[in-house]
Amino acid sequence: MGNCLDSSAKVDTFLSSNPTSASGVSKITTTSLTSHTSNPSSPAVQGNGFKSSAQALPTPRSEGEILSTPNMKTFAFNELKIATRNFRSDNLLGEGGFGYVYKGWIDHQTLTPTRSGSGMVVAVKKLKPEGFQGHKEWLTEVNYLSQLHHPNLVKLIGYCLEGDNRLLVYEFLPKGSLENHLFRRGPQPLSWATRIKVAIGAARGLSFLHDAESQVIFRDFKASNVLLDAEFNAKLSDFGLAKAGPTGDKTHVSTRVMGTQGYAAPEYVATGRLSAKSDVYSFGVVLLELLTGRRALDKSKAGIEQSLVDWGKPYLGDKRKLFRIMDTKLAGQYPQKAAFAVGTLAHQCLSSEPKARPRMANVLDELEKLEDLKNAAKHPPSRHKSIPAPLLPSPLRQHRSPANLTPSASPLPTHRHSALVH
Ligand SMILES: Nc1ncnc2c1ncn2[C@@H]1O[C@H](COP(=O)(O)OP(=O)(O)OP(=O)(O)O)[C@@H](O)[C@H]1O
Ligand SMILES: [Mg+2]
Repeated sequence: MGNCLDSSAKVDTFLSSNPTSASGVSKITTTSLTSHTSNPSSPAVQGNGFKSSAQALPTPRSEGEILSTPNMKTFAFNELKIATRNFRSDNLLGEGGFGYVYKGWIDHQTLTPTRSGSGMVVAVKKLKPEGFQGHKEWLTEVNYLSQLHHPNLVKLIGYCLEGDNRLLVYEFLPKGSLENHLFRRGPQPLSWATRIKVAIGAARGLSFLHDAESQVIFRDFKASNVLLDAEFNAKLSDFGLAKAGPTGDKTHVSTRVMGTQGYAAPEYVATGRLSAKSDVYSFGVVLLELLTGRRALDKSKAGIEQSLVDWGKPYLGDKRKLFRIMDTKLAGQYPQKAAFAVGTLAHQCLSSEPKARPRMANVLDELEKLEDLKNAAKHPPSRHKSIPAPLLPSPLRQHRSPANLTPSASPLPTHRHSALVH
């Protein structure tokens, strides 16, 4: 689920902290502010070949309409109890701010639970009883995921609403979240090629949402919400905070500030003005995480290094400096030119001015060019010899921060929970 407050009572608090995910990242919220502004050039871009299923997303729909969605299975609580073996702890896949995610098994055809552990594996998210806000996000997630279908969005198979119990049943993504792979010890470090593949998949998902006729703003883009299938294809998960984009000539919607500290765009945190460019900023943060192998926010670090953007951004636009912040787990195994291209792209996404940020469709184009380059190098035209992309020697990480900078003074506390690696 997305990130929200555990009770509506916190809603009117400026930048209050709220439930923390297993990633240890705080969620944020503020009151809504201000009105819409005009923009004569609102985006009308045709997308990526997957546009049709999101074209006429009718939002908002009533609760009754949402829950009677065809091709979405309604599970009884008892069925999900059986599927997860009574939510057994060794079936626990992870914990987020709003509940626990368990592995479960259902029959391919009938979607009924199997006791034997045979059939199709699913991920069952069981919400902690959080009151109104939790229900609202649960409903938003069912609403969007029952209507949006794309290879880079997680598939929602069904849901359960029984008494206080609210559950969601998703396709199971065997490689878990990007967060687990980037920051946890144990799994093999992600190669450069895999990082680019994941970035492209996630960019495709966001681009699809932004270019739908009824634009959808994801609002909680972060490494833990990028799930990975067996081939490292990325799928966006957690639509609880998703929001319909501005219509007509408006540039933004005004809304309560909700999202995750370290990933949320500065103008959105400051004013509550939300636009697709807020997602682009968050995407820039994840690009920076992919380059550096560091978390968006790390309270265990000192000073400016706590905030990845504050620390890393000054290195992004400089070819000679970039290698200083590259993830040492890559052991220098990345093409220098491509790394610089990704750094430049991240720098643009992280512009303080939303208008200066590229659209997701452009970000996707740029990332795809890197893959094309790689493929061209693998399969050169017969008359030309391929020139391998230069690999950097293993860089020595130098944590040289710009002088005289103080720790970022975020008013938002963070808490750390341990998450499970599977
Ligand atoms: N469909 C899925 N397949 C496999 N693992 C999943 C799936 N959905 C979630 N998980 C695992 O469960 C973990 C918790 O997910 P959840 O969305 O509840 O929290 P989160 O994204 O870490 O934090 P937040 O509550 O801030 O969104 C994920 O990090 C992931 O490892
Ligand atoms: Mg999540």
